[in-house]
Amino acid sequence: MDYKDIPGWFMPIDQAAFAWLLAHQSATQPPGGVVELGVFMGKSAVLIGNHLRPGEVFTACDLFEDIATAPEAAPGEQRFFRDKDVSQAAFERVYLSFHKELPRIVRGPTSTITRHVAPGSARFVHIDAGHTYDLVRGDTASARVMLREGGIVVFDDYRKAGNPGCMAATWEAVLNDGLKPFANTDFKLYATWGDPAPYRQAIASGAAASGWAVAEAPVALRDTEMVYLHRKA
Ligand SMILES: C[S@@+](CC[C@H](N)C(=O)[O-])C[C@H]1O[C@@H](n2cnc3c(N)ncnc32)[C@H](O)[C@@H]1O
Repeated sequence: MDYKDIPGWFMPIDQAAFAWLLAHQSATQPPGGVVELGVFMGKSAVLIGNHLRPGEVFTACDLFEDIATAPEAAPGEQRFFRDKDVSQAAFERVYLSFHKELPRIVRGPTSTITRHVAPGSARFVHIDAGHTYDLVRGDTASARVMLREGGIVVFDDYRKAGNPGCMAATWEAVLNDGLKPFANTDFKLYATWGDPAPYRQAIASGAAASGWAVAEAPVALRDTEMVYLHRKA
């Protein structure tokens, strides 16, 4: 299977940003856990798996086929995923065509994730499971618990008109909970509760060495300094 043929919504610009940030952490920080909430068929998980160092645990959480019946799943998402292959077997098949070993799989609602990942242990958390306000709010709180100081959290659909709850929960964390965004694409927001400057620099350097463009976010959001990563005009 070719990577580009994995179904999913993980865009090339975010593939690049994940790669730069995970590589930057690997080059400058001790090993730590990596967590993905919402894996679908593994498009982002496979890329994350490329950046694991010896001893690092990658925890991948999803309801998989249980989404159809789980009370924790949002009804709109149960309908959305009904006609798609969200089985654990499909995820594992895709993942194993790129990597020798599976991540540690937590099959269940993301609300249980802090029972499986030690507090303060993760260097990187990707929030891409249920997109309602309450689910993203809960996942954000879990990310804060799981992340070590200065860890990275990435939010999906932080600006999509069809996902107002997801947007609201993300921005609430920025405005009220001390989260510092350092970069955005049209699809994802990249943030930390630690020092955002080195990560902003890593994105800027990655973009400079590739075909992507960065722009300073033109409108100030309190004291945040972020870069907008986009396709060159
Ligand atoms: C947008 S997809 C993930 C996409 C994936 N990260 C990628 O890049 O291809 C959302 C996933 O979250 C899962 N999901 C939705 N609500 C969930 C919940 N409450 N707990 C666990 N998983 C959930 C769905 O089963 C689906 O696989």
